[in-house]
Amino acid sequence: MDKLEQLEITAKENNVPIMMKDGIEFLTDLVKERKPQSILELGTAIGYSAIQMARCDESIEIDTIELDEVRGKQAVQNILDEKLDHRVHVHLMNIDDFKTDKKYDLIFIDAAKAQYRRYMEMFKDNLAEGGVFVLDNLCFHGLVDNPELIQSRQTRQLCRKIRDFREWLLQAEEYNCDFRKNIGDGVAVVSVKTK
Ligand SMILES: C[S@@+](CC[C@H](N)C(=O)[O-])C[C@H]1O[C@@H](n2cnc3c(N)ncnc32)[C@H](O)[C@@H]1O
Repeated sequence: MDKLEQLEITAKENNVPIMMKDGIEFLTDLVKERKPQSILELGTAIGYSAIQMARCDESIEIDTIELDEVRGKQAVQNILDEKLDHRVHVHLMNIDDFKTDKKYDLIFIDAAKAQYRRYMEMFKDNLAEGGVFVLDNLCFHGLVDNPELIQSRQTRQLCRKIRDFREWLLQAEEYNCDFRKNIGDGVAVVSVKTK
């Protein structure tokens, strides 16, 4: 069995949220097309999307951040198993504590959904010229657009935050946003507008 299939099964069995099939296909197609040399990923989980992106081209270097120790350690092992550890660097820490002057061609945001705007602001200066943010889960399992299906107060609050963020993003003066509602869990590719 291919390592990626193994990771899909492990994720399912352990309730680890990883990108949906068409979402990951969209992301890897984008990586192949844009050919980023450096990628920052917020939210590693067990390394599934990082491994997929790294496999797109041997020249790609990835920094990926994970707070959860168990998941982060599994990611390190999975990346080692794939012999990608010289190019994929797992930072076991809170995203809020990750500071770098490095510029990235692609910043993939796939962590705490309520923090996306703050993360974009935090890492905007780390985006290389012509670089893009890629954001996942902007539909949150279809619940953002169908709030009547939501059963808990916590999820309702989260979906409201995601909806507000989406509205802000789609009309933000400084960003161009290509929002693909029907891909994965709702994916957006965002670039900084040039003046
Ligand atoms: C959706 S999962 C990432 C999935 C992964 N990108 C994939 O598709 O294979 C989000 C991850 O972000 C991590 N996370 C959430 N908040 C974080 C924070 N403040 N700092 C670092 N990691 C965080 C969670 O522990 C979780 O494993």
